[in-house]
Amino acid sequence: MVKINTLNISPPLINSSCAWASDLEQLTALYESSFTGAVTTRTATLEGFQENPSHTVAFTKSAVSSINSYGYSPHRLAQYLSWVKELLKPSPGAQPKKPFILSITSYDPAKLRTMVQDIQDLRAELGDSTAQSSSIAIELNTSCPNIPSSPPTGYVFPSLIPLLTVLKEEHAKDSSLTIGLKLPPFVYRDQFLAVIDGIKTLCLPGDSDSASSNANCPFAFFTCTNTLGNSLLFDEQSTRPASSGEEASPFAVPTGLGGVAGDALHALALGNVYTFAQLLREPANAVLQGISIIGVGGVTSKAAADRMRRAGAVVVGCATLLGKEGVRAFEIIGGEEGQK
Ligand SMILES: Cc1cc2nc3c(=O)[nH]c(=O)nc-3n(C[C@H](O)[C@H](O)[C@H](O)COP(=O)(O)O)c2cc1C
Repeated sequence: MVKINTLNISPPLINSSCAWASDLEQLTALYESSFTGAVTTRTATLEGFQENPSHTVAFTKSAVSSINSYGYSPHRLAQYLSWVKELLKPSPGAQPKKPFILSITSYDPAKLRTMVQDIQDLRAELGDSTAQSSSIAIELNTSCPNIPSSPPTGYVFPSLIPLLTVLKEEHAKDSSLTIGLKLPPFVYRDQFLAVIDGIKTLCLPGDSDSASSNANCPFAFFTCTNTLGNSLLFDEQSTRPASSGEEASPFAVPTGLGGVAGDALHALALGNVYTFAQLLREPANAVLQGISIIGVGGVTSKAAADRMRRAGAVVVGCATLLGKEGVRAFEIIGGEEGQK
């Protein structure tokens, strides 16, 4: 079992936020799988995101990779809150609870605050703030590469500070609220340092003993990484069925450009996990020592999950394999030893 602030994740294998964690049926299957230790929901906004046929996904013919052009979930946060409430409701003979990580995003601090408060209202209703372990956490998605004219905020870290300040203030009111950040794949060291420096400005100075319990830092985890944007695959490289009803396109996704994931992302995702793990261990960053890393990107086999752990992840997640295999993905990655 892995403990991240107030979350207990057992086994330490989860789905990452994605289009296959979008509706109640998908979330129920993920929740009921004995191979997942937590369920991450697709990124929700306050009002819902308008999807059109250009938002889609394709898999590659060789290796287990994907390219997608999706934005955020068409379902509003309120919808996820009602589904999560339904799934967490105790029922006779039901499996023990596992936590939900609610992926949310906004560019507007006021809207983000409303979203966090809505989540906190549900946690209060469920007695989650006072429970021994929490069933609801927040992951702020800072890294969707597919929103026209809105670059992933994680790449311009100082621009995120107003949003992160909202999270800091809400965490200060209730430290049982577990908050993480979904980060984009970074490609050079200064980008990692910008995250570390930015987060440090939001932490209280304090001794490293209490830092390890997230007492001084509002953030409990980094999920590394999201897809690599501005990628391109041609139609003949993908397995998208010709009869999918979409207009003929020379590209794997109609937008041409999209976010690549799966095997094609693995080396970069490992490098991101490794770099953050090293930086978080540095004595100068002691106040951040309570931050755990959820390793995501090309986890398509047990060996890949093991590599993520060797690189520094305490929990491992996947999306592309889930899209290809359904919840059986977690059996493939976790194997017998992964079962609770
Ligand atoms: C079809 C699809 C939809 C995704 N949607 C989201 C999303 O809504 N929010 C998010 O934070 N990440 C999203 N992701 C990124 C995944 O969570 C993950 O970070 C990325 O795909 C790398 O993991 P993988 O190699 O296991 O696919 C999506 C990925 C895919 C393939």
